[in-house]
Amino acid sequence: MSVVIVTRPVAGVAQVQISRPEALNALNMEVRQGLAAAFDGLAQDEEIRAVVLTGSETVFVAGADIKVMLETQPVDHLLRKLHVLWESLTRFPKPVIAAVEGYALGGGCELAMHADIIVAGETATFGQPEVKVGVMPGAGGTQRLLRAIGKYKTMLLVLTGETFSGRAAFEMGLASRVVPDGSALAEALKIAERIAAMPPLAVAQIKEVVAAGEDAPLDTALRLERKAFQLLFDTADQKEGARAFLDKRKPHFTGR
Ligand code: CAA
Repeated sequence: MSVVIVTRPVAGVAQVQISRPEALNALNMEVRQGLAAAFDGLAQDEEIRAVVLTGSETVFVAGADIKVMLETQPVDHLLRKLHVLWESLTRFPKPVIAAVEGYALGGGCELAMHADIIVAGETATFGQPEVKVGVMPGAGGTQRLLRAIGKYKTMLLVLTGETFSGRAAFEMGLASRVVPDGSALAEALKIAERIAAMPPLAVAQIKEVVAAGEDAPLDTALRLERKAFQLLFDTADQKEGARAFLDKRKPHFTGR
């Protein structure tokens, strides 16, 4: 049985589920390679317009596999090229919605932060506890958390390894939405379905500009936005969107 399961629960939407329950979905090479292969495939799949990334109802991902870390030497990191596997997610061109229930710790919290939207169960447990096992976040945790919630909350969380709930993640701006426990996946699928019904070229430009703009100077980011905005006027979906609005009917987007 695969540790990464890809399904298509709704038209236009793929669900990528991590299933390694005996280790609370901890990220070993098999899970990492499974995730990279899943996202590489979905990037090329024209039918798929949004992806939901999830674990189980009780655990998202409890971090990198600590058993593997016990034996890991620096050269193993060089040989495994983990950053290349993560790039399948960082460069993924379609919206990714993480549905988080239970533990999202260490590499699990970092995995959730690779998504564009995070839906959290009320009592989900987020955190970057790596300091407690003698290391530090190594898959973007220090930097993505910093950008999401600011320096002072980040420092507190990464230096103490303190965990926080889905509700707290929402209040500090890490989660996009908090929902009753057990309903994160359903809510994430609903959001994905709404996005999948939008014109995909506009969706792709929006994702690219928001992501690239986060780290660019404002003037550069605004130029990027302007160019992408102008480019969309060359799409059939832009004309259809405007025409449908004026005709007071539902638009029929073709992705062209
Ligand atoms: N790696 C490997 N195995 C793990 C694991 C991990 N990160 N987390 C849990 N497991 C395994 C446990 O060893 C245990 O296996 P056995 O049954 O064979 O003993 C099984 O999953 C169930 O775990 P627990 O018995 O500990 O379950 P619990 O409900 O009592 O506690 C928990 C749950 C609080 C999440 C606890 O398992 C825990 O603290 N896990 C580690 C969390 C952590 O420190 N994550 C960060 C890892 S470092 C990292 O991620 C680096 C990075 O930035 C990339």
